[in-house]
Amino acid sequence: MMAVQEQRTSNTLEQYIAAVRSVWGDGKDPQLPFKVKTLMEKLFASTRPDDPWMAELIREGKPSRELWRDPDYGFIQMGHVHKQGHGNTPHDHGPCWVVYGAYVTEITKYKRTDDGSQQGIARLEKDRLDRLTAGVVVPYLRGDIHSTNAVQGPGVVFRFLSYDLDKIDRSRYSLESGKIIPVPAR
Ligand SMILES: [Fe+2]
Repeated sequence: MMAVQEQRTSNTLEQYIAAVRSVWGDGKDPQLPFKVKTLMEKLFASTRPDDPWMAELIREGKPSRELWRDPDYGFIQMGHVHKQGHGNTPHDHGPCWVVYGAYVTEITKYKRTDDGSQQGIARLEKDRLDRLTAGVVVPYLRGDIHSTNAVQGPGVVFRFLSYDLDKIDRSRYSLESGKIIPVPAR
C-alpha cells in the first residue's frame, strides 16, 4: 500500500497564534490587548469542541496547560480546564496584561478605594462583574486587580499572558485584612 502523504493544514489555534504574532510589533501598542481580544473571539468562533486540538484539551482536563510560549515576543497562551468552584483571590499581573476568554466563568474586577498612602495596604471594592460566557473575551490591563470564579464546570478558560508571570513581581490582595501580598518573580 502506498503511504498517503497527509496534507498538513494549520489548525485554528495555530492560525490564532500566527495572527497575534503578526500584530505584536514592539508589544507596546496600548491597543494590543484589544487586538488580542478580537483575535481570541475569532478563535472561539471558528473552533468546534470536536476540533482535534480542542477535543484533546477538553479530554485531558488539565487545570493548566501552556499551549504556546512565543520564542520571539515572550507572550504565553494558557489553556485551563476549571472545575466548578475553582477560583482565586484578587490579584494583579504587575506590569503585564492578560486577556481572559472562557466558556462560563465569572471575573470580578476591583477598584482601590484608598489613596495608596499606607504601605502594604489596599482597600478594594467590587468595580465590575464580568460574566464570560462562550465566546466572550475580556482584557485586564496593567494593574487591573481581578479574581476568577468558575460558576459552572468544567469550563475551558483561555488566558493570554503578555509575558511569563513567573518572571515578574506582582501582588495578591486580601479583601479581609486589606493587606497587599507580594508575589515576587521566581
Ligand atoms: Fe489573573
